[in-house]
Amino acid sequence: MVDGPNKPKLKREDWINLDAPDRIKAIGHRAYVGGHGPQIWYGIGKRQYHYLVSQGLRPDHKFLDIACGSLRLAQWLIPMLNTGNYFGLEAEPALVQAGLEQEMLYDIATFKQARFGYGYDFDFGFVPEFDMAIAQSLFTHLTPDDISLCLTNLAKVAGPESVLFFTYHEGEEMRPDGPSHANKTYRYPQSTIAEIAANSGWHCDFVGDWGHERGQLMVKARLTQ
Ligand SMILES: C[S@@+](CC[C@H](N)C(=O)[O-])C[C@H]1O[C@@H](n2cnc3c(N)ncnc32)[C@H](O)[C@@H]1O
Repeated sequence: MVDGPNKPKLKREDWINLDAPDRIKAIGHRAYVGGHGPQIWYGIGKRQYHYLVSQGLRPDHKFLDIACGSLRLAQWLIPMLNTGNYFGLEAEPALVQAGLEQEMLYDIATFKQARFGYGYDFDFGFVPEFDMAIAQSLFTHLTPDDISLCLTNLAKVAGPESVLFFTYHEGEEMRPDGPSHANKTYRYPQSTIAEIAANSGWHCDFVGDWGHERGQLMVKARLTQ
């Protein structure tokens, strides 16, 4: 395991209010996605990969990585999936670029025809009906309105057999002031998550503890029939 690029240790107040592209430059593409140090960076990537395979993910499945960040999962998944089967959506293109250039050892994303979409509006127009998707540590940074937008738009490219996994921080509702923020933490009780999902067309099965390094819980969701 290799360490990420060395960044000077900045105080949180020096970077937390920067625009996202400047925050990525300030703290680095691993720390931005909560991957401080190789243990967490590789640990959470491998955990997602092994979890998804344990849930039936196969190379011939079409897979959607929602908020794929700097390719913490994709570095394992793109090599495993058949050509053309990986789709990654990410708000900040600089994270994907850093992942492609600094985390993937060869140009395997081009070889495997991985496709990426960018933006904050959860436009899944580039994605075909998917077999499996994950949103790992995304809803932990979103307001209820943004979670709802994500799930409502996602329902348009999901089919009856599509399975979505997503994580959240369980607890009494805690929302920072202002809009969704990739480096601020949001907590919701299970009932709120279930309600937002139901209103957006999804039925949730709460998996709970899946060993996540930061205690995020797992949910398995399918379209409401
Ligand atoms: C904590 S990181 C997790 C990244 C990745 N899932 C992983 O496990 O490494 C949260 C990610 O969500 C992305 N994000 C935040 N809002 C988004 C949006 N509206 N659409 C797509 N990605 C978004 C951030 O840019 C960031 O890459």
